[in-house]
Amino acid sequence: MKAKPGIETIQPYQGGKPIEEVQRELGLTDIIKLASNENPLGPSSLALEAGLEAVAQVNLYPDGNAYYLKQALAEHVGVASENLILGNGSNEVLQIVGETYISPHDEVIYSESAFVVYMLVAKVCGAKSIVTPMRRYTHDLEAMADAITDKTRLIFIANPNNPTGTMVTKEQTKRFMEQVPEDVLVIFDEAYYEYVGRLDYPQTLPYVEEGRNVIITRTFSKIYGLAGMRIGYGIAKPELIETMNRVRQPFNCNSVAQAAARAALKDVEHVHRSQRLNASGKVYLYESLDQMGLGYVESEGNFILVHFDQSGQEIADALMQKGVIVRPVAGYGFPNSIRVTIGKPEENERFVNTLKEVMSEA
Ligand SMILES: Cc1ncc(COP(=O)(O)O)c(C=O)c1O
Repeated sequence: MKAKPGIETIQPYQGGKPIEEVQRELGLTDIIKLASNENPLGPSSLALEAGLEAVAQVNLYPDGNAYYLKQALAEHVGVASENLILGNGSNEVLQIVGETYISPHDEVIYSESAFVVYMLVAKVCGAKSIVTPMRRYTHDLEAMADAITDKTRLIFIANPNNPTGTMVTKEQTKRFMEQVPEDVLVIFDEAYYEYVGRLDYPQTLPYVEEGRNVIITRTFSKIYGLAGMRIGYGIAKPELIETMNRVRQPFNCNSVAQAAARAALKDVEHVHRSQRLNASGKVYLYESLDQMGLGYVESEGNFILVHFDQSGQEIADALMQKGVIVRPVAGYGFPNSIRVTIGKPEENERFVNTLKEVMSEA
């Protein structure tokens, strides 16, 4: 049976290898995973307790409208519940956006080396991908604005971007939004929002408040440490949310995830601890990479793109043989780089020491 046009050109998504798989394949026991930008501290204990309590009632379907989580999120974000849509991870929200708004042959704009799911959504919807070049590893919003035609329906912006860790600024975003026609939808994917410390990071909520066709996506997978729960959300004007809710599966967010996410919002200290750990780990990794003479891209997220004079896949394979899982990123156009998630101090040290070993053996 032939799939619909475009599907056969999709390469299956390659996530970071799970620890269990590496254990099974290599017979190793002492493994660290710095491959999927997960929170090394794990989830908040409040989230864990709430999740465990909710497990007792999994015979019941979840609240398909996630009333309580939406209320908590509305307060947290500073919007109304009507401005929120929940997803099975923010990935699902991106997919719902595509399914709701993209018809075959529409044009979808995203940047080269941007988060891979934009390409997947565009292909699955039969859209024409318009891929703009990056400038210094960063989305070039001028090039993206120039790429708009009367067929453009949707523009994806990852801010910060994965795997480069770079961000577009307030000023660049303002100029860009002045050029985007009212009927073009702009997605600001802010999966790493809580990690960004820069003052020139754009606040995109005002675009939603002004009634622009803007959808902001955020997630509980990163700083909240709930990646395995699969829960994320979108923020948009009620008209867009109401339309997307027609496409969303009725019970797309499970009850355990809803309870855990709600509790996670209350644990502000866990978020702060995670931010501090990330900031200090980043400094340590920058210094270590500098000492090793390796190039890297300064990151606003919880991961760093590191460059080598040789294949990143080979480096990642050699690290994995020694129990350190990182992410090769050739698929993003960086054949000689890897992406490493910032871990706990002992994990960062193990990564650096193992990398030194691997490079001395190469
Ligand atoms: C830029 C970006 N957006 C979205 C996601 C999706 O995250 P989730 O579906 O777990 O919310 C990720 C995950 O790696 C990401 O890096």
